[in-house]
Amino acid sequence: MKGVILHGGYGTRLRPLTHTGPKQLIPVANKPISQYVLEDLREAGVEEIAIILGDLYPEKVKEYYGNGSDFGVKITYIPQGEPKGIAQAVGLAKDFVGDDSFVVYLGDNILKGGINRFVEKFNNNSYDSMILLTEVKEPQRFGVAEFDENGKLKRLVEKPKVPPSNYALVGIYFFTPVIFEMIAKLKPSWRGEYEITDAIQMLLEKKFEVGYDFVTGWWKDTGTPEDILEANRLVLDEIKPEVKGTVKEDSCIQGRVFVDEGSVVEKGALVRGPCVIGKNSVIESGVYIGPYTSIGNNVTIKKGEIEGCVIMDDCLIDVNERIVDSLIGPHSQILTNSHTKPKGRRFVLGERSRVEL
Ligand code: G1P
Repeated sequence: MKGVILHGGYGTRLRPLTHTGPKQLIPVANKPISQYVLEDLREAGVEEIAIILGDLYPEKVKEYYGNGSDFGVKITYIPQGEPKGIAQAVGLAKDFVGDDSFVVYLGDNILKGGINRFVEKFNNNSYDSMILLTEVKEPQRFGVAEFDENGKLKRLVEKPKVPPSNYALVGIYFFTPVIFEMIAKLKPSWRGEYEITDAIQMLLEKKFEVGYDFVTGWWKDTGTPEDILEANRLVLDEIKPEVKGTVKEDSCIQGRVFVDEGSVVEKGALVRGPCVIGKNSVIESGVYIGPYTSIGNNVTIKKGEIEGCVIMDDCLIDVNERIVDSLIGPHSQILTNSHTKPKGRRFVLGERSRVEL
């Protein structure tokens, strides 16, 4: 079985973070979201992987994953060009897939427990396709499954105004190459996209066998800052504590905290897990790092209290404030302005930044 990771899209709801890279590279517990995807595939024995690249800094994706050897997989890159929907992106993998079966994994989806069980199920059955479902609160935001009175999968519908059930399609799909015949016949949906949901619906209409299974643990589709923060909390809930860096005497580490190589927690600092601190970062004396915080590499926290945040690489925070539930992009600085006149708050913010004072 081969794997296809979708890595395109503009990630508009995650601007300004997505002005400088694709959303799938945003870190959750110090690892890009799409790396969780890649590792799920590898753990399930899927080692030949195509990454479908969008046109938002695709070179950053190539730079990070290279040919895949550092991650134990073999990667082929396929440019998507102008994005026209998931089905169009999947269609581009036709030559890569050849006669094999394959799994498509949306690069912004994150799933507890991996996909081994589902790969096994697909391989042990003669399905033409298999989908994964989970119960959600707002099914109108997703592809939704409808079942008949015997519980058999009857219909799939993309973002229905009146959802026929609460079961949403998770962004992980199993296919045989017959899906390419359906994709070739698709028409764009009302939102102008070639929908993979419509292509699978076509399989159902043509009496191909579409299996399904339910995701039992959590699953998150990370389209917004709130989604990223929630994914961060979910992943941090499972981290293993370890100190590779230096935790000075008279500092205080509570709960599950991971401190990577080269980082220092100075005396008088309090770090309360679950929390990860990347490489070569410094948590200075008097600082409080609270639960559900991820601090990247080369970050200095000189002053302040930070809780429930994702602080990306190379940031500097030096402010007598409590910062909560925030996403701070790489190379950002939050400083105290107490000397220069006129006094007041100062900002240098990119498009679509958000500040709550
Ligand atoms: C896409 C699919 C949808 C699926 C969702 C899962 O939605 O079209 O059927 O439920 O991914 O993440 P989109 O991200 O395009 O809104």
